[in-house]
Amino acid sequence: MRDTLEFFRQFRQRFETTGAVAPSSRFLASAMTRHLRHRPNRPVRVLEVGPGTGAVTNHIVRLLRDGDRFDLVELNESFAGILNRRFSNDPAWQSVASQSKVHVCPIQEFKPDGPYDFIISGLPFNNFPCALVEDILGTCLTMLHPDGILSMFEYMYVRPVRGFVGKRAERERIRKIESILQTAFQKHRVRRDWVFVNIPPAWVQHLKHPAAE
Ligand SMILES: C[S@@+](CC[C@H](N)C(=O)[O-])C[C@H]1O[C@@H](n2cnc3c(N)ncnc32)[C@H](O)[C@@H]1O
Repeated sequence: MRDTLEFFRQFRQRFETTGAVAPSSRFLASAMTRHLRHRPNRPVRVLEVGPGTGAVTNHIVRLLRDGDRFDLVELNESFAGILNRRFSNDPAWQSVASQSKVHVCPIQEFKPDGPYDFIISGLPFNNFPCALVEDILGTCLTMLHPDGILSMFEYMYVRPVRGFVGKRAERERIRKIESILQTAFQKHRVRRDWVFVNIPPAWVQHLKHPAAE
């Protein structure tokens, strides 16, 4: 409950980057970790982008095994503090703390030390400038191992609605983001999950590496 209140406080203070009123539901977190649940029987590298207070992280840590690597990239220092506290205090998180690292920086500045088998992103793309969406999406896809999967969520029907209301520049920005994302979905999508039990309901888009066509 304390983390949910902090999430809401950050939503009010930093709407552009927080992008949601509440952390993801366990149903959304479960869909986001679908591919990690069916992981190969070897050590894997996992990257979570925009973990917030750890709603999805809490599912990821339970799927990690010895030898795996888990990087979390979160630009909000307050959220990073919550995550680091959980790695110190929560037993399920403590068990993978030595193989996990919270990087406090924007994903566009993160320098990975190798490709990832699973990238799980909670970024609020609809709030970003178009060039940043293109940049981050391209970066995440190229950070994937050739067999890797990028899973990202988006709230249902937000862009079709926001593309028709508000100021002209804002409508154009949203329509351009829709075009960038739909192009990527058509080229790289392997699956879409519908999650109705979440505030608001969401889709999870699962994309493969560009070279895996
Ligand atoms: C919609 S919240 C999702 C939080 C969490 N994954 C969940 O599902 O409850 C978006 C998160 O992305 C973070 N974020 C936004 N822009 C970012 C960026 N460029 N790099 C890293 N994190 C970012 C925000 O601080 C916030 O924690």
